[in-house]
Amino acid sequence: MVTDIRTQVAIVGAGPAGLLLGQLLYRAGIDAVLLERQSAEYVLGRIRAGVLERVTADLLDEAGVGARMHREGLVHTGFEMLVRGQRHRIDLQGLTGSTVRVYGQTELTRDLMDARREAGLPTFYETTQLSVQGFDGAHPSVTFRQKDRDYRVGCDFIAGCDGFHGVCRASVPSSAMLEYERSYPFGWLGLLSDTPPVSEELIYVASERGFALCSMRSHARSRYYLQVPIADEVSRWSDEAFWAELRLRLDARARERLVTGTSLEKSVAPLRSFVVEPLRFGRLLLAGDAGHIVPPAGAKGLNLAATDVKYLAGALREHYADHSEGGLEHYSARCLRRIWRAARFSWWFTGLLHSFPEEGPLAARFQQAELDYLLHSEAGRRTIAENYVGLPID
Ligand code: FAD
Ligand code: PHB
Repeated sequence: MVTDIRTQVAIVGAGPAGLLLGQLLYRAGIDAVLLERQSAEYVLGRIRAGVLERVTADLLDEAGVGARMHREGLVHTGFEMLVRGQRHRIDLQGLTGSTVRVYGQTELTRDLMDARREAGLPTFYETTQLSVQGFDGAHPSVTFRQKDRDYRVGCDFIAGCDGFHGVCRASVPSSAMLEYERSYPFGWLGLLSDTPPVSEELIYVASERGFALCSMRSHARSRYYLQVPIADEVSRWSDEAFWAELRLRLDARARERLVTGTSLEKSVAPLRSFVVEPLRFGRLLLAGDAGHIVPPAGAKGLNLAATDVKYLAGALREHYADHSEGGLEHYSARCLRRIWRAARFSWWFTGLLHSFPEEGPLAARFQQAELDYLLHSEAGRRTIAENYVGLPID
């Protein structure tokens, strides 16, 4: 027996994009059902982004879930770049008038999950065999199983917020889209620990031994990353080996202040640039990592997911409240303009800071010269700062 459900928007994926869309639609009086393959605990256990642009923070306020971010998030007016032993500060506020906020993706996800639960909105976790149908016509639907029961959700629109490995994009005929992709020959090994951060600001490190990043979640919780060969399994890296390698990539000042401890989480993330065009296929609309992936050095992925969702929620509001299709028609092009800007910056910033031994010594010297040029000119530092704080919303 199949249980039939009717809604206006079926949202596939309860990561930040799906949860935020659900919350914005709820506040606009639009009915939605949220479907997630994993459990809520599993989603909360994935340690990912840490830096929110102002547009993302504003959007959380608009969604009514910004209170804890304002209380606990850390406003950062700049960050440091440590390049072959020399520190350079990127004064975000001075160069752009804008700042960013350090607030973990886990916390943002938890705030959105709490709001959804309090509002009593329907979410199906631990779904299996999910498939999307009929989005090229007027009556799309999503079918899935949960706890040995079969469901069919009839809807007006399907929002594909199911990340890079999801089913939504995979359900579109390849002749209907163009995919652009580059994989990088290294990954990021991340470690989370309940130790005070090594510095008040983030430090992006370009060393002869490879890239490293010193980040944080609070004044008592640190997040560090190391560039590692793509084939490295996390089991190859004990906590001691991680700290020892990080020390070798830092300067004396940071080494003195570094407090090490047991890891709460450790994982390797592959790095990829990926964009699909378009993002709309009839009544299926992709948002977030389902439509694009950027390497994390520019801290853009979650922020792009949030702005896609802002445009999508706005387009659906226009459709239902104003009977206007303009927002839906322009959805893809509006998102893609921001996406390509951020994808370019993330690729460029990754190239500036990581080691590419396979490209030989000439490429390494060009990289050093470019960093030297950028960091010793105000225009260069401003270029980095403007891209890092992100575009204002149009
Ligand atoms: P996801 O978070 O991937 O969520 C998709 C959801 O869909 C998942 O919960 C998944 O389980 C679910 N799903 C998948 N398939 C199905 C299915 N078949 N049925 C039902 N559900 C399904 N971004 C930043 O902006 N700033 C940063 O500082 C930053 N740092 C990062 C650091 C690292 C190490 C990594 C890996 C990423 C970082 N990012 C950062 C990127 C950011 O984490 C992602 O862009 C963000 O998670 C995208 O959100 P999403 O909701 O689109 O996708
Ligand atoms: C993080 O804290 O996880 C983080 C911060 C900045 C980045 C990427 C990740 O560029």
